[in-house]
Amino acid sequence: MKSTEIAERTRYLLSATQDTTGASIKSPNIKDALGIVQVAHAAGKQLREEKYGMRLKDKVAIITGAGGTIGSATARRFLREGARLILTDLSTGADACSSIVTEGGEAFFIEAEISRVSDTERIINFAYAHFGRIDILFNNAGNDLNKSLHEYVENDYDSVINVHLKGSFFCTRYVLPIMMKQRSGSIVNMASILGLSGFPLAANYCAAKGALVNFTRSVAVEYAPYNIRCNSVCPGIVETEMLKRGLETHRENVQKMIDHHPMGRVAQPDEVASAVTFLASDDASFITGVSLPVDGGYLAGKS
Ligand SMILES: NC(=O)c1ccc[n+]([C@@H]2O[C@H](COP(=O)([O-])OP(=O)(O)OC[C@H]3O[C@@H](n4cnc5c(N)ncnc54)[C@H](O)[C@@H]3O)[C@@H](O)[C@H]2O)c1
Repeated sequence: MKSTEIAERTRYLLSATQDTTGASIKSPNIKDALGIVQVAHAAGKQLREEKYGMRLKDKVAIITGAGGTIGSATARRFLREGARLILTDLSTGADACSSIVTEGGEAFFIEAEISRVSDTERIINFAYAHFGRIDILFNNAGNDLNKSLHEYVENDYDSVINVHLKGSFFCTRYVLPIMMKQRSGSIVNMASILGLSGFPLAANYCAAKGALVNFTRSVAVEYAPYNIRCNSVCPGIVETEMLKRGLETHRENVQKMIDHHPMGRVAQPDEVASAVTFLASDDASFITGVSLPVDGGYLAGKS
């Protein structure tokens, strides 16, 4: 490694160990200081390379919300395609992420609250300090709140908008200087069919996902000269924990949306992971600024 590169990575590592006031976090163990609760390195099973093309060989990727259903499916796919990963989620996602890293490949889990700007900076700084580059950022973390708009209080707005939009916005903001220096990078934002169409009881979710679609375009045009691409995926309903929660609390509303999928079924998480992998990979080297529906024809039937 060149001395300039060592100096650069040390600078990032130092900033990753400072708190929001700029003071150093005092800890004998840098991993504790960074809030990394679990680290794993390849040991276990062979990667199933024969089925996958190793399209992400040696790429460094960050996945937010990696312990969730779509995040986990994408992490597994990225590993099989040869990527090295930083997985991040709330503490509730730690177990799911641990089980991913035991399957083989190289991955770290960093616990983080994605709506906190200092956490987004910490994730990016650690990834760069450890790997010396960041090729892919998948802004996937998300939550939901099924509620009528006229009943909202301020916190209902913040609780969803800040996770989807502010979290993606600041992860992107902090990764860009690194990708600009590399003159390469691929950012994939998790939008939704509800970023391109409306639905009852989902005002803050639709607002956040719609904003992500246009944020994607804005990043794409501003950073294309640096060979940085930015795209979104817009899944229809996917068989996930989020869907389970929706069916428990608002069965009729959710069922209406399911019935609107022309293919007559919801998506499997791996079908979304396939689209994310394609956009993240060099296979999509001339694709930027798009929001790709992965929706079994839902949006086609709406227009
Ligand atoms: N399930 C669907 O039908 C569907 C459809 C379109 C888009 N999406 C989007 O896909 C993404 C993944 O959702 P999923 O369906 O896998 O649901 P999920 O609940 O299984 O996963 C979401 C993950 O985000 C994490 N998360 C939530 N709040 C966070 C925070 N404040 N900080 C850090 N992490 C946080 C959760 O811990 C969880 O692991 C979300 O952005 C969601 O909006 C889902």
